[in-house]
Amino acid sequence: MFSNAPSAPWRAALPGLLALALLTGPAAHAENPAPAPPPPGTARYLIGGDSRNDVNHVIPWAFDQSKRRGASAFIFLGDMELTPELDVKFQKELSLLQPVPFYPVLGNHEIDQFGVFRVGFLERLHGANPEKNFRRRFLGTKETPVKSNFGDKVVYGTDLPGGLHFIALDNVSQKGFGDSQLAWLQNDLKAARSNPGTKYIVVGMHKALAANGHTTHAMDEDGDRSKKDSAVALALFRAFHVNLIFASHLHDYVKFSQGGIESYITGGLGAPLHIAGPLSVHHVLQLDVSNSGLAVSMIPFDGPTLFSDDDDDDDDDDKEPPHGPTPTPVRRVLDWFKHIFH
Ligand SMILES: [Fe+2]
Repeated sequence: MFSNAPSAPWRAALPGLLALALLTGPAAHAENPAPAPPPPGTARYLIGGDSRNDVNHVIPWAFDQSKRRGASAFIFLGDMELTPELDVKFQKELSLLQPVPFYPVLGNHEIDQFGVFRVGFLERLHGANPEKNFRRRFLGTKETPVKSNFGDKVVYGTDLPGGLHFIALDNVSQKGFGDSQLAWLQNDLKAARSNPGTKYIVVGMHKALAANGHTTHAMDEDGDRSKKDSAVALALFRAFHVNLIFASHLHDYVKFSQGGIESYITGGLGAPLHIAGPLSVHHVLQLDVSNSGLAVSMIPFDGPTLFSDDDDDDDDDDKEPPHGPTPTPVRRVLDWFKHIFH
């Protein structure tokens, strides 16, 4: 008898085919699977820097990832916004991270207009003090229970879950680190290594150390004093067996070894990427800390990229701009307005 109904073998296979269609159809891809929480006995940290104008909303994604992945804290390596005044906007976005603790490092865009123009002496006389404003906004809170060891810098060391001693250094408030910060660093490293609770020491700073072999958009760009301080800091890191170094400033992902220490540049939280191409991607790093060691992995941003990242580099005085000549101050201001009003 003729029938439009599927023949017997097809009828038998139909439930399986329907299930396969449901699993592979749009509904299955509407939301990525939940990231796995850290294994028992592992403390997890998410780490990144350079969000600035963040037209693609990488920061909300990274903060959401922190909660979904069970992070013990989020370490931010500087350059929240284009200008210090806009840090209020970032401060509001921090509510998306709560209750995950937040440990920030100072970036040049936190203290310089557009990361370039120093807040001048006269402006400071009239109350402008970006370093102080930063400390007031972001330190000494429930989520950030630390205070800077200096009145004109953001420098601290703190003990975190997993036996991790985290040190935040400041290489943007001055050229290099300065003698007082290097003296503090030596004392803090010595104290941390004499603490039986310290298993690992991790350092975060905005600009990568000079002579890193990958970019001079780092402490190299601040002159001889900065290069000298960088060498002194690296010698201290080696003497006290620092385990990992994280920096930002370059809007890219780079893994390398410096002085035998595993190091990362991770400026992927939304600022225009410095190097065009399929290997350059907005991202955040995940650090897992356990008795068996430290494990760093890069998590690529999986949200839609709505705006091109190919047309500006308004960071400071990079001597080797990835996209040709250094933009003029006028061009930088125009770029800023362009991104603000996207
Ligand atoms: Fe920067």
